[in-house]
Amino acid sequence: MTAIHTDFQVQILEGIPSELPKAKPYPTDANRAPKRKDILTTDEKKLAIRNALRYFPKKWHSTLAAEFAHELREYGRIYMYRFQPDYEMYARPIGEYPAQSQQAAAIMLMIQNNLDPAVAQHPNELITYGGNGSVFQNWAQYRLTMQYLATMTNEQTLHMYSGHPMGVFPSSKDAPRVVVTNGMMIPNYSKPDDWERYNALGVTQYGQMTAGSYMYIGPQGIVHGTAITVMNAFRKKLKKGDTTHGKIFLTAGLGGMSGAQPKAGNIAGCITIAAEVNPKAARKRYEQGWVDELVENMDELVLRVRRARYEEVPISIAYIGNVVEIWERFDEEDIFIHIGSDQTSLHNPWSGGYYPVGISYKAANELLSTDPDQFKAAVKTSLQRHATAINKHTERGTYFFDYGNAFLLEASRAGADVMAANGIDFRYPSYVQDILGPMCFDYGFGPFRWVCASGDPDDLDKTDSIALGIMQEIQATAPPEIQQQMADNIKWIEEAKANKLVVGSQARILYADAEGRMKIAEAFNIAVATGLLSAPVIIGRDHHDVSGTDSPYRETSNIYDGSKFTADMAIHNVIGDSFRGATWVSIHNGGGVGWGEVMNGGFGLLLDGSDEAHRRLKSMLFYDVNNGIARRSWARNAEAIFAIKREMKRTPGLRVTLAEIVEDDLIDGVV
Ligand SMILES: NC(=O)c1ccc[n+]([C@@H]2O[C@H](COP(=O)([O-])OP(=O)(O)OC[C@H]3O[C@@H](n4cnc5c(N)ncnc54)[C@H](O)[C@@H]3O)[C@@H](O)[C@H]2O)c1
Repeated sequence: MTAIHTDFQVQILEGIPSELPKAKPYPTDANRAPKRKDILTTDEKKLAIRNALRYFPKKWHSTLAAEFAHELREYGRIYMYRFQPDYEMYARPIGEYPAQSQQAAAIMLMIQNNLDPAVAQHPNELITYGGNGSVFQNWAQYRLTMQYLATMTNEQTLHMYSGHPMGVFPSSKDAPRVVVTNGMMIPNYSKPDDWERYNALGVTQYGQMTAGSYMYIGPQGIVHGTAITVMNAFRKKLKKGDTTHGKIFLTAGLGGMSGAQPKAGNIAGCITIAAEVNPKAARKRYEQGWVDELVENMDELVLRVRRARYEEVPISIAYIGNVVEIWERFDEEDIFIHIGSDQTSLHNPWSGGYYPVGISYKAANELLSTDPDQFKAAVKTSLQRHATAINKHTERGTYFFDYGNAFLLEASRAGADVMAANGIDFRYPSYVQDILGPMCFDYGFGPFRWVCASGDPDDLDKTDSIALGIMQEIQATAPPEIQQQMADNIKWIEEAKANKLVVGSQARILYADAEGRMKIAEAFNIAVATGLLSAPVIIGRDHHDVSGTDSPYRETSNIYDGSKFTADMAIHNVIGDSFRGATWVSIHNGGGVGWGEVMNGGFGLLLDGSDEAHRRLKSMLFYDVNNGIARRSWARNAEAIFAIKREMKRTPGLRVTLAEIVEDDLIDGVV
């Protein structure tokens, strides 16, 4: 490291500044996090302020105590806005970070990407996505963490407790540089209000999935997953040889993640109709080029859709209005919907996640603040109408699936007709039960990703073509069971650049199985060593994957041996990855479906071109995928049994306990 530092480097190395920075006005154009619940008692508020002040010297306490009390009162949290750095926040090329350890510099790059205002949802509150997906709880934690990373060596490990850097401890070159936990609670203290309380006290945070593990890469992650889901939903429905052209995919939501649906529909080649009640959200997606056309009137929509059906050209249409109106009107008009789903924010039904039909968007918002009980009643009635209309279409052959947004759960709670005949299950499957589980996760396919640490788009192009070559090579000898998955992922990587999906760091997502991930990573490492790539590559994945996440209503909803309410797989994964070579590992409570509802973990690994990186990637990626396949096969999932048997044949040293399948008649006869 050179002795002369840039201003940015000086500020990183300084950590908490020696002079108290000036208080800052809140930027007027910023997207501010919602005001949090006022849940603390007076004594607890004192404790929260006492907790916050422990980051600072005594001489500042009287100034800061009043300021933090104000933040707690106004925002429900203490973010320490005054300590937000003045430099621009974005992922710099890795060589610009002051560091003793290149692995630590890679983590600094990823942290800055998660907080980049172009990437993050509420950057001033250190929130990357999902409303509460935090990288840190406050700016003191950010500053201290960056300082630790800048000064630590490859013989130390930094331990992160829910955003708080507990410290660097001596370890070894083989150990992870950073170990992250987010929201780890004693199980009885894992209710939503526990998060409100302990987060307000400053002792825990909600890390979502890739927010608190520094692995978020913007919207392309969700586009790829959604495209795979939509394509496979059509395959379940269409006759062999039939195409998606002229076929309808009806859904709702053009918000944060739901906004990926039209782009995914275009990739799948169908007619996508996405209803969105919020005109601003619909127009934003239209202006960004994420949806092709905007329609504000139902009669116009009917005409436009009939024309699209006739022309059979892939198109995505945003309808500004309530999705229930479309389900009902298309029934009257006898317009056949091939695939249907929903991505309104029904994980948050009573506070504006779902807008009731029959009330304008503006009036619904007014009702929400003036009469929340009436709003709740309107949501329930709307969900009943919504389900009734869907049922009419599915009776005629529409394929409907739940998209991980708690639609069926909330509809059932609202008394809508969504239960199966047994009164226990829902009458429609979730996308993991029917699609992603058996077609991807059980075979080991999941959202592998990489970031070019040079920040150079040329490097990303080179990695795209390396990955494409490897996928094609694997496809040539792959068994029939995974030919379709290989073909979809090859199509994705071929078109990835043209789809212009990069926001923030030069990153790419690619669904791949263990073999694909290992071969691609190995080739990247060689390309770094030979200088084909101008800087190292960081690999990782979404937590929404084969092995990283135990979540009974999402990632593990296709586990039917009763173990979907256990979290052993996610815990084994993080421990197993940590000693097999990950550069950093993380494990979180909450993420996607809510605090207390899921355990999920991830990793990052720096490919610096070394032999050591080669050894690490092989050992770690192999376990990171096959741990989950082993568990899925033990749960008797046929696809996973196939995948793990295949893996055992070609991998000496792998021996997995296999399940014997019992005949149903035998069991029925004894109980
Ligand atoms: N399974 C997955 O991989 C996956 C991926 C993404 C999102 N999700 C889930 O999908 C949901 C949506 O996520 P998001 O980030 O897009 O949320 P979001 O709140 O940003 O977007 C939802 C949109 O739905 C609109 N809306 C609400 N009610 C409507 C109605 N009745 N008709 C038409 N539009 C309506 C809202 O105005 C909003 O813009 C969440 O519950 C999320 O957890 C699941």
